Order: sequence, then C-alpha cells, then structure tokens
Amino acid sequence: MARLLLATVAATVLLLAAGATAQQQGCENATFPAGRSFARCNTLPVLDASLHWTYHAANGTAELAFRARSSATGWVAWGINPGGAGMAGSNVFLASQGGGGGAAVSVLTTVLRSTAPALDNTTLQFGVPVPPTAEYAAGAYTIYVTVALPGNSTQQNTVWQAGPVSGGAIMPHPVSGPNLQSVKRQDFLSG
Ligand SMILES: *[C@@H]1O[C@H](CO)[C@@H](O)[C@H](O)[C@H]1NC(C)=O
Ligand SMILES: *[C@@H]1O[C@H](CO)[C@@H](O)[C@H](O)[C@H]1NC(C)=O
Ligand SMILES: *[C@@H]1O[C@H](CO)[C@@H](O)[C@H](O)[C@H]1NC(C)=O
Ligand SMILES: *[C@@H]1O[C@H](CO)[C@@H](O)[C@H](O)[C@H]1NC(C)=O
Repeated sequence: MARLLLATVAATVLLLAAGATAQQQGCENATFPAGRSFARCNTLPVLDASLHWTYHAANGTAELAFRARSSATGWVAWGINPGGAGMAGSNVFLASQGGGGGAAVSVLTTVLRSTAPALDNTTLQFGVPVPPTAEYAAGAYTIYVTVALPGNSTQQNTVWQAGPVSGGAIMPHPVSGPNLQSVKRQDFLSG
C-alpha cells in the first residue's frame, strides 16, 4: 500500500514536471523582431513548431508567423488546405536557405498537387496580400505570412512540415512519426 502510494506520488511529480516543461516551451513568450507582434498563438503538437497570428475580421485576413526548429541545412513549411485535409491540395509557404554558404533565407509558395510535389514557386489559391518573408535565428525558421483566409472562414485545415536540404535542393521530409501527424484544424478566432 505504502509502495503503491509512493509510486503514485512519484508519477504525479513526474507529470507536474512534464507539464511545467511543456509550459516553458509554450508559444506565449516567443519574441519577434521590432514591429512584429501577434495577438494569439498555439504551440503545435509536433515538430517543435508554433503558430502566432492576428486575425482581422473586417477584411478576413490573418497576419501570422510560423516558427519551427530546424538545422540550418533544413527546410520548414506551413500551409492551408482550402479544399480538403492533409498534404495533397495544401497551399504552402516553404522556407529554406538555398545553397548553404550563408545564402539568404527565401520563401517559395506552392500548391502541393500530389504527395510527390514539384515545388514550383507559384501563385496560391487564396489571397496573399503581402509578400511572405522568413528568417532563420537561434535554430529556428520563422515565416511571416499574410493570408486572406479561404472562404473568409476562421477555421482552416492546416499542415506543417520540416525536412532536409541537400546541395541546395529541398529533399523529401521523413514519412514516419511526427512528420505524419503535422495536421491541424486551426481556429483563427479562439486558437
Ligand atoms: C513567460 O514569462 C514569464 C515572465 O518571465 C513567466 O512568468 C511565464 O511563466 C512564462 N510563460 C511561459 C509559458 O513560459
Ligand atoms: C486588414 O485589416 C487590418 C486592420 O484594419 C489592417 O491592418 C490590414 O492592413 C488589412 N489587410 C489588408 C491586406 O488589407
Ligand atoms: C469576413 O467575415 C466577417 C465576419 O466574420 C465580415 O465582417 C467580413 O466583412 C468578411 N470579409 C470579407 C472580405 O468577406
Ligand atoms: C518565389 O517567387 C517570389 C516572387 O517572385 C520571390 O520573391 C521568391 O524569392 C521566390 N522564391 C524562391 C525560393 O525562389
């Protein structure tokens, strides 16, 4: 009995510790360069990523920042699937540092027409009123995006991802574990 109690206490302490760690890694204290701030944020469930945004009801736009940990020789992406859920059909913003050697961070916008997409830099199927930009700092990419939320809906099917760059080329992301769990029905009103 005493032993069981001890085990329970130990488990509770462990749970509390895990909760505290998760909270410290929460999105709330993320900092951004001067002039950038966001009203709400969500820590995303996988891939060490978070979404920060300000929703403007009057014009149906969201200004957002997607931040995800990555090595400098990696890429990250975030997007919305306006016609379904999951990867195929998603319209994404992908940040990478092409070519290595300190090359600037660039963003490409592409529609993922299949699960083996061409990654051509194209116009998306919803409004992007401000050109996207991205930065790489402290082991994470941040992509700054303004979107006209498709259908003027504050609920969207979103995806995010991270993978390697090799010789300046964007290579496929892993196809197991967290890389297959990076989908979320995102609520831009409440988060
Ligand atoms: C954010 O920072 C404040 C002040 O340092 C701290 O009290 C709070 O616990 C932090 N919150 C998270 C989620 O890390
Ligand atoms: C949308 O409205 C907000 C708030 O009024 C404004 O700051 C922003 O520039 C507008 N965005 C566009 C793309 O018009
Ligand atoms: C989007 O919907 C809001 C109400 O949720 C409405 O006030 C606004 O006029 C709509 N904007 C557009 C661009 O349709
Ligand atoms: C994609 O096209 C935009 C607009 O022409 C450009 O600013 C951006 O650098 C391009 N991205 C890449 C990765 O080439």
